[in-house]
Amino acid sequence: MAESFRPPVRDDLVGVASYGAPQLAVPAQLNVNENPFPLPDDLARAMGDAVAAVATGLNRYPDRDADELRARLAAYLTDETGVAVDGDHVWAANGSNEVMHHLFLAFGGPGRLALTFDPTYSMYPEYARDTFTEYRELHRRADFTVDPQLAAAAIAAERPSIVILTSPNNPTGTALPLADVRVIADAALAAGAMLVVDEAYGEFRHAGVPSACVLLAEYPNLVVSRTMSKAFALAGARLGYAAVADAAVVDVLKVVRLPYHLSAVTQAVAITALEHADVLQAQVDLLRRERDALAQWLVAQGYEVAPSDANFILFGRFADRAAVWHALLDDGVLIRQVGPEGWLRVSIGTPEENDRFRAALDRAHGKVSR
Ligand SMILES: Cc1ncc(COP(=O)(O)O)c(C=O)c1O
Repeated sequence: MAESFRPPVRDDLVGVASYGAPQLAVPAQLNVNENPFPLPDDLARAMGDAVAAVATGLNRYPDRDADELRARLAAYLTDETGVAVDGDHVWAANGSNEVMHHLFLAFGGPGRLALTFDPTYSMYPEYARDTFTEYRELHRRADFTVDPQLAAAAIAAERPSIVILTSPNNPTGTALPLADVRVIADAALAAGAMLVVDEAYGEFRHAGVPSACVLLAEYPNLVVSRTMSKAFALAGARLGYAAVADAAVVDVLKVVRLPYHLSAVTQAVAITALEHADVLQAQVDLLRRERDALAQWLVAQGYEVAPSDANFILFGRFADRAAVWHALLDDGVLIRQVGPEGWLRVSIGTPEENDRFRAALDRAHGKVSR
């Protein structure tokens, strides 16, 4: 190999670090909004059986369009949101990260703009970079909601091809009122833009908070993205999906996906998890209660807490959040330094992990200033 060879890396990728939060084997891993509960034994066994059943057929490529899985995801969404969705209006991929990547491949590109509202999920600029899409963030209000009039004006002026609304938002937990989503959907439709509502944390919303799926019948430009990584406790399986208002969107996503992108193993595992959705939903209820109790506790301790409809809480504010983060880590609790300066984000863990977090934060409080 010639010593002098330098790989011809794209100019915009030179020196760029890869995305990723620390993966540390500490007693309380509360940094990436996973579901903390291991899958129940009977479900794990059912998944093993489902994988064994497809294993002999792994010499063949999988169902390219994942028709059965998409039909089952549609049935689940219908049940969870109360909105009738069918399989032709559902897309599925390896995590909602890949769903988003497909959306950027199909609707972004050179000379096109994606618009969203910060603070928000830090992967969006990476999808934009990968697809040569211009990317812009408008600021959310101090309470982390989106000003719908400001958003509508910006959409009319800047004419993006993709608008992303994250609700509940990461890292703030903020769910947007449906009336505000509607104003933004109207503006996006008038500008000829796709509106992608990222509901990765949708199942954790408080009772009475609707999913943007209720708008699917009204807005042909709407896509509602979901994932099995959070509520379904299936982050390791990598399965995200989206409901689309217009089935033609699925056709174009089939154009940009790589061939046979969803393995037969992934499809079998996801279908089995959907068959046990009720068992996993029980954990979601517990996590919701734990979240609300932890938020109340943080408020009682004098912390500022962003109201959360997700499985995490953004709280603060700290003069030196890095010092608090380190003190917690030294105590076996891994959380995330993310969001505006002074705030920290903690994922909701098991009741024991949440107790451990409370105790560690109390101890950290004695060591570092707020
Ligand atoms: C807002 C949001 N969207 C999408 C994702 C991606 O999830 P996944 O690719 O595991 O489905 C995450 C993950 O944390 C997220 O926070």
